[in-house]
Amino acid sequence: MCGIIGYIGDKNASPILVNGLKKLEYRGYDSSGIGIVSLSDGKLALRKAHGKIANLEKLIKSHPVPAGTVGISHTRWATHGAPNRVNAHPHADSSGKILIVHNGIIENYETLKNALKKKGHKFLSDTDTEVIAHLIESHYKGDLFLAVKKAIKELDGAFALGVICSDHPETLIAARVGSPLIIGLGKNENFIASDVPAILEHTRKIIYLKDGQIASIRKDKVSIFNFSGKSVIPKIDKVTFKVDSVAKQGYAHFMLKEVHEQADVLKQMFQRRLKGDSVVLEGLGLTDKQLKAVNNIIIVACGTAYHAGMVGRYIIEHLSSVPVSVDVSSEFRYRNPIVSKQTLVLAVSQSGETADTLAAVREAKAKGAKIISICNVVGSSLARESDGILYTHAGPEIGVASTKAYTAQLGMLYLLAIKLGFVHKRLAKTAIHKIIKDLKHIPALYNKILKNKSAIAAIAKKNSHFGCFLFLGRNINFPTALEGALKLKEISYIPAEGYAAGEMKHGPIALIDEYRAVVCIATESDTYEKMISNMQEIKSRKGKIIAIATEGDKTIAHHATHVVYVPKTNKLLTPFLAVLPLQLIAYFIAVKRGCDVDQPRNLAKSVTVE
Ligand code: F6R
Repeated sequence: MCGIIGYIGDKNASPILVNGLKKLEYRGYDSSGIGIVSLSDGKLALRKAHGKIANLEKLIKSHPVPAGTVGISHTRWATHGAPNRVNAHPHADSSGKILIVHNGIIENYETLKNALKKKGHKFLSDTDTEVIAHLIESHYKGDLFLAVKKAIKELDGAFALGVICSDHPETLIAARVGSPLIIGLGKNENFIASDVPAILEHTRKIIYLKDGQIASIRKDKVSIFNFSGKSVIPKIDKVTFKVDSVAKQGYAHFMLKEVHEQADVLKQMFQRRLKGDSVVLEGLGLTDKQLKAVNNIIIVACGTAYHAGMVGRYIIEHLSSVPVSVDVSSEFRYRNPIVSKQTLVLAVSQSGETADTLAAVREAKAKGAKIISICNVVGSSLARESDGILYTHAGPEIGVASTKAYTAQLGMLYLLAIKLGFVHKRLAKTAIHKIIKDLKHIPALYNKILKNKSAIAAIAKKNSHFGCFLFLGRNINFPTALEGALKLKEISYIPAEGYAAGEMKHGPIALIDEYRAVVCIATESDTYEKMISNMQEIKSRKGKIIAIATEGDKTIAHHATHVVYVPKTNKLLTPFLAVLPLQLIAYFIAVKRGCDVDQPRNLAKSVTVE
């Protein structure tokens, strides 16, 4: 939800900012802007454009940004105010000296705006952000840091801020509550950014600013304080992932690249976490004895991560008999969840910055629950607020539609399920040995499916004209159906619904006619025959069926219009394999329809607002 990058140093800020901004475009892309303090006249120079960063680049080509060594920039995902040029960041105060970029939502902005208007402040935009610029101005008596510090005390809500002022070209101010912000440390230059990829080509030394911290950043010095003014000694982290991992590496889209990376992500996870037949959950922060005391688990997550959580429920209950409930994070706190000392709350999130999941975690914590997170982004807010953290280490996921992060979440949930099965004495040694052996084989099976990519692409293209899709699955692959439908709707904009196949007769079957395509997950399982019955019901109503089936299934072709085969595996592990063709079908349909696969409309990668 919005991307920020700021620079202070000896170099010309504008190209550094625009290049960095491009790496953050996944966070929002309805408008963008850049502001610097001009070296020639000491004034602020501002360029803003509606739409993607490419439009800002075009604008800068025709109206170059003057040279300047301090600046801030922003790519926006609109919350308050329509996506247009006027509402694009940075926003200035009325004196035109102070410039700010913001990620988050200021909840009391209307009250603040009315009070500032009464004092004579004039507003140009409909954003909550512009209020902050004026608020800082109202406190500014020559000391920028003090003015920002006073202003943020009046703000309710979430914010990551970058502030510059033409009176102080030697300083860049940053502050955060609730929205991510990092400081990158360079030699005679420093950076702020919403995420690491924006600054990775300049530095790997990172400070993760914490909630309630404000930083005064010069080119050769970073001073961090909490909001009451106490100096803080920050921890400096070294980022290890490769610059390459945030480039497309020859793939047409990040999504396709990330789909291909799944085998490797799982392989590395299993290499790291499986030692013989033991599951090593470093970071969990619970002893086997404590894990044994857990008598129920609540999983909280959103979107794709929620679907991973749903698979998690099936597998944890199957392998360990520990009861699991799964909540959409945004609903969790409104149902008065019963949490005891034996409850483990498991938060699943790629970004670790999803506001709904963070709110659910805070609610659970307030009720006394222990929080374990499964998260991809190291140092994220979720990671910091959890008692234990299981990093998935899937590498940066840039495509807005989640793929490899999902697979990695599945991987971690299976490992946790095996561990729980072991400590709760529900799994015999032989059973553990078998499932671990099968799990380790999954990455090789991914590569087998990918070899068949062009056949999947052909099926996708043949079906790309359908105006409505249903995805059906049963048992452990019911969530896979939900995930397939989500992938298709978010990147192709085709209405798609996921259902437990048994639900068809309770309503959705009314939709079936020759204009519907139905994707049926019919891999080998205990409910296979039932799925075949569902397929017959659809076929007799002229629905077109794409079946996902197990290699060697000789009869499935009689029931389906198209079949995508996945290799045979342990029945419990089929969610890993069945989701891959669904990701590819969504991808190829979206490409065929000319959609913006990596940056679908109205979406953003990291949803930092509730
Ligand atoms: C869908 C997708 C979203 C995210 C959801 C949660 O492809 O990416 O549904 O899964 O917004 O995000 P995280 O996992 O960052 O909490």
